[in-house]
Amino acid sequence: MKLSGKVALITGAGSGIGAATARRMAAEGAAVALVGLPEAGVRDVARELSATGGKALALPADVSDSNALAAAVESAAREFGHIDIAVPNAGIQMHREDVNLHELPEEVWDRTHDVNYRGVYLTCKYALREMVRQGTGGAIVIVASVTGLHGWSRNVSYMTGKTGLIGLGRYIGVHYAKYGIRCNTVCPGALERTPNHDRHPDPEGRRRNTTERIPLGRLGTPEDIAPLITFLTTDDASYATGANFVVDGGLTVA
Ligand SMILES: NC(=O)c1ccc[n+]([C@@H]2O[C@H](COP(=O)([O-])OP(=O)(O)OC[C@H]3O[C@@H](n4cnc5c(N)ncnc54)[C@H](O)[C@@H]3O)[C@@H](O)[C@H]2O)c1
Repeated sequence: MKLSGKVALITGAGSGIGAATARRMAAEGAAVALVGLPEAGVRDVARELSATGGKALALPADVSDSNALAAAVESAAREFGHIDIAVPNAGIQMHREDVNLHELPEEVWDRTHDVNYRGVYLTCKYALREMVRQGTGGAIVIVASVTGLHGWSRNVSYMTGKTGLIGLGRYIGVHYAKYGIRCNTVCPGALERTPNHDRHPDPEGRRRNTTERIPLGRLGTPEDIAPLITFLTTDDASYATGANFVVDGGLTVA
């Protein structure tokens, strides 16, 4: 088990990539703090992991709320004694509203950046504070998106936030290496579901059009992404920091 004795804090852990990563890390021996909304999601995943012998703690919190997030990180550190791994992963995508920059309502830009960008900044900030204080190093994996590597997304707030996260990962990689803290970003490609999936205007059209462009011929799943995130937090990845890792079935290079 590669994460035995480690404590991982994962945001957006009640579904999708966050839940799959929690399961994977728990299987590698980590204790997992599951942060996110809705409350039922993180509680269900925590119950599932505890029932199979894992150590898990549900911490319902909105990642864009600084006080709530600080309290969640403190609770995790108090409950488990330390935090070694952070996966800022929670994200939203306002598929219908986040289009046409010249007409874009400011509240759409603000809400997307509050969750996807500010939420990651806050998660990194509070996790780094614990890790620096502990003095035993750490590993952070930020979940960005291949959307952040291109200009083709219609969802301008989503795209620009994800581009910013890749820069944030580089910054942390450079500036926290002296504390033994590594930070990398992962860019998933198009998965079977998207954040706020039910609000996508044309899920079947998206599936058809995107699948055609993916060399491996299928959309991804959360279980395709979780192993890479987990690997990057283990000592096997001890020389990787400040880097961006794409896992997209070949979409980006096609
Ligand atoms: N699914 C894809 O196609 C895809 C592709 C690239 C990147 N991503 C990124 O992966 C990450 C995880 O997404 P996913 O695909 O697992 O979808 P998901 O919707 O299942 O996961 C996002 C999680 O974040 C939670 N969340 C949303 N707003 C929150 C808030 N304010 N506070 C706390 N939790 C909140 C959601 O409830 C959900 O549990 C996101 O950052 C997303 O942008 C997804």
